Amino acid sequence: MNSRTLIETAKALVADAKGLLAMDESNSTCDKRFAKSGIEQSEETRRAYRELLVTTPGLGDVISGAILYDETIRQRGKDGTPFIETLVGAGIIPGIKVDIGAKDLAGHPGELITEGLDGLRVRLKEYVDMGARFAKWRAIIVIGDALPSRSGIDANAHALARYACLSQECGLVPVVEPEVLMDGNHTLSRCEEVTEDVLSSVFSHLRAQRVLLEGMLLKPNMVLPGLSCATQESVDEVADATIRCLLRVVPAAVPGIMFLSGGQSGELASARLNAMHTRAKEPLPWAVAFSFGRAIQQPALEIWRGEEIHAKDAQQALHHRAACNRAACRGEYRGEMDRKSSEQTSSNNNRNKVAVA
Ligand code: G3H
Repeated sequence: MNSRTLIETAKALVADAKGLLAMDESNSTCDKRFAKSGIEQSEETRRAYRELLVTTPGLGDVISGAILYDETIRQRGKDGTPFIETLVGAGIIPGIKVDIGAKDLAGHPGELITEGLDGLRVRLKEYVDMGARFAKWRAIIVIGDALPSRSGIDANAHALARYACLSQECGLVPVVEPEVLMDGNHTLSRCEEVTEDVLSSVFSHLRAQRVLLEGMLLKPNMVLPGLSCATQESVDEVADATIRCLLRVVPAAVPGIMFLSGGQSGELASARLNAMHTRAKEPLPWAVAFSFGRAIQQPALEIWRGEEIHAKDAQQALHHRAACNRAACRGEYRGEMDRKSSEQTSSNNNRNKVAVA
């Protein structure tokens, strides 16, 4: 393990108020999203979509890194250039999702455990040879009546710590993602309690496995009320609860917190991230940024719909959402930025309809 390289990479990923583009959906998740937008589900459409993402003009000005999936890291653009090369050329650091998904946790109905530790060292070495510089692993925690259980939390925290240590051994910065899901009718304060518990366990396992905290990044959920909870707190209340929770459990040695979006709309995710910056009374000990998938990609996917004619507009929408999130990392995001952009998109759609007719 070269600690200096890990620390430099982690710092580069959080530099300049930029964040990560999560484009690491598994093939089945990507296909499900394609199906919802009426897009054909095949290796070629997934490749074409990911080519659109990585070739977005100016993306490196707003994004520091991109998380790829095993299929994607091996793919190339139409001109034969590997996606990794395109990203590096755009000043974007390539990363890779290294878990192989969540399965039912034996003996724990309703809980999940993320798999992928067997043979991980070999896979990590292959990704390093391909040019990856950081590695992500997602653990999923469900809130329910008697969930999560102590043993469910600890089993996932242990797996996160084992993967993180292996990643650092191979020279990859671990982006440690314990996601407390938004699904359910739990309150914001229940989410805060569970998130604090989960993160405490994660950091205790990270220490036990001797993970270098300065050479890792945390990718947590924001503290949110469940999607079907009757009380939905304001943007400011969510920002305050999230920062309060993180300050209690995330050591200052960690260089950055890169939130997942977890199904929030792009605008809400940006507004909440923005409020974390504008409401902080003192400087936060870590960089606070984003590692969003849907909250950056969704408008682009809806515009593209699998048709080349929409590719440029889709790229503009992708760049716009990433730029909004960078603005949020500086406390400079305003809702009008999104309203102006949707007016622009609908006028472009009309222009395309005329062109096709
Ligand atoms: O693991 C999840 C992704 O990396 C983040 O995706 O922002 O759509 O939750 P999301």
